Amino acid sequence: MIIAIDGPTASGKGTIARALAAHFGLPHLDTGLLYRAVGRQVALNGGNPDDPADALAATAFPESLLADPELRSEASGGLASRVSIHPEVRAALLARQQAFANQPGGAVLDGRDIATVIAPHADAKLFITASVAARALRRWAEMTAQGRQVSREAIEADLAARDARDAGRATAPLRQAEGAALLDTSALGREAAVAAAIALVEKQLAQR
Ligand code: DC
Repeated sequence: MIIAIDGPTASGKGTIARALAAHFGLPHLDTGLLYRAVGRQVALNGGNPDDPADALAATAFPESLLADPELRSEASGGLASRVSIHPEVRAALLARQQAFANQPGGAVLDGRDIATVIAPHADAKLFITASVAARALRRWAEMTAQGRQVSREAIEADLAARDARDAGRATAPLRQAEGAALLDTSALGREAAVAAAIALVEKQLAQR
């Protein structure tokens, strides 16, 4: 059984994907982490994330980089969004993601192009979204709790720029796939969002 979860940054897709994996007893891959590792590796190489050759070279990042907490930073997220524009970077990460999706027993993957490119044959597909304001508020609360001083306006501007880049790129843009169920988490807490996601997946599985 393959469950494909797509959506923009801070929509709640990561939390939902992890909860679905636990609920259905499936392994989970956060594909954004792969792009974040590429972005971070470009920086470590002293390369330019907007240069396709520099970005492609960074896809040879060491496995140990995936455990680096720095990948979770806003800076790595921004770099990931920039390197993910290059078709050669997406192609280099494709086989790894498809192998994970198609492993015996199934899997949960979350990202931007899981239901459109990586696993269009998924058994259940969710497109998780939330308003920019709701997503910025969550990100702001998270960062403030970590003791960091940031303005909500700056976070909102950053999210909007990232959305535009992820949805506007030519290769595998962020979009709701054919047959994907839409879940707007703007007004939902964690528990309610997870419960709604489980219900949507169960409905899709029953209709197979
Ligand atoms: O989900 P995230 O914030 O960790 O993703 C970081 C960036 O990686 C995102 O802005 C676009 C890119 N990405 C992608 O292009 N395709 C994916 N399947 C996952 C992430």
